[in-house]
Amino acid sequence: MNALIETLESWIDYRDDVTASGLSIGFVPTMGALHEGHLELIRKARQETDCVVVSVFLNPTQFNDPKDYEQYPKTLDRDRELAADAGADVVLAPSKDVLYPDGYNYKICESHLSSFMEGEHRPGHFDGVLTIVMKLFNLVKPDRAYFGEKDFQQLKLIEGMVEAFFLKTKVVAVPTVRESDGLAMSSRNALLTEEGRKRAPVFHQNLTAQKTADEAREALTKEGINVEYVEDYEDRRLGAVVIDNVRLIDNVAIKNSI
Ligand code: PAJ
Repeated sequence: MNALIETLESWIDYRDDVTASGLSIGFVPTMGALHEGHLELIRKARQETDCVVVSVFLNPTQFNDPKDYEQYPKTLDRDRELAADAGADVVLAPSKDVLYPDGYNYKICESHLSSFMEGEHRPGHFDGVLTIVMKLFNLVKPDRAYFGEKDFQQLKLIEGMVEAFFLKTKVVAVPTVRESDGLAMSSRNALLTEEGRKRAPVFHQNLTAQKTADEAREALTKEGINVEYVEDYEDRRLGAVVIDNVRLIDNVAIKNSI
């Protein structure tokens, strides 16, 4: 099992030792309930950096729906084991009082990309994401930080924040890891009923197969799926649907032929 660090003091001691040894830090921020998608990020960090830090923090400020926050799976002991097996040296799991000494009076806001798609459907979500990532970057001071393309809009916003604030961390993007039937791996998949899980791959299938975002939205609606949005942004098609009261997001590269 790897080290578990929960206080600011012990983290700063640990980090001082790593810095003194001249080792590079690879950082994988997560909200826990780790699955193969997260583990892929950790494995990549293991290949590219000396000391791999995984944070497990269920960040309350990015949940616009309190029920979603409450029902989010919490599996810290298992997460520690999985993270260690994938190559993590330390799991950083501070409490919300440690990470929000200001009670969230200070926040990072982005005013363009965060206002549509996920941002439009989850008010305040990206303020919470950017604020916690900035806090974690300032504490961890990683050389490289790993983010999944699964959360494509989040990835682009974090890249933008790094550029806007001249942060030294290099953001590394990792392709989406999928189940064999195409469903993007997500901590929320565990909340689907057996029947919902069977229907869920239709989301990815239609994002990929339909010619336009409108056609993908219509095809999903015809399948009886509750669609929040499907939109094309740059060279990706992004969407969010609700199946069994579970909100799922995904995105795919738009093929040249489309
Ligand atoms: P979380 O949903 O736990 O995801 C942590 C990281 O794992 C993110 O970078 C996410 O894109 C990546 N990830 C999740 N599922 C993936 C998959 N199927 N394939 C590849 N990567 C995947 O994203 C968050 O947490 C939070 O917003 C966070 C950045 C930790 C801030 O609280």
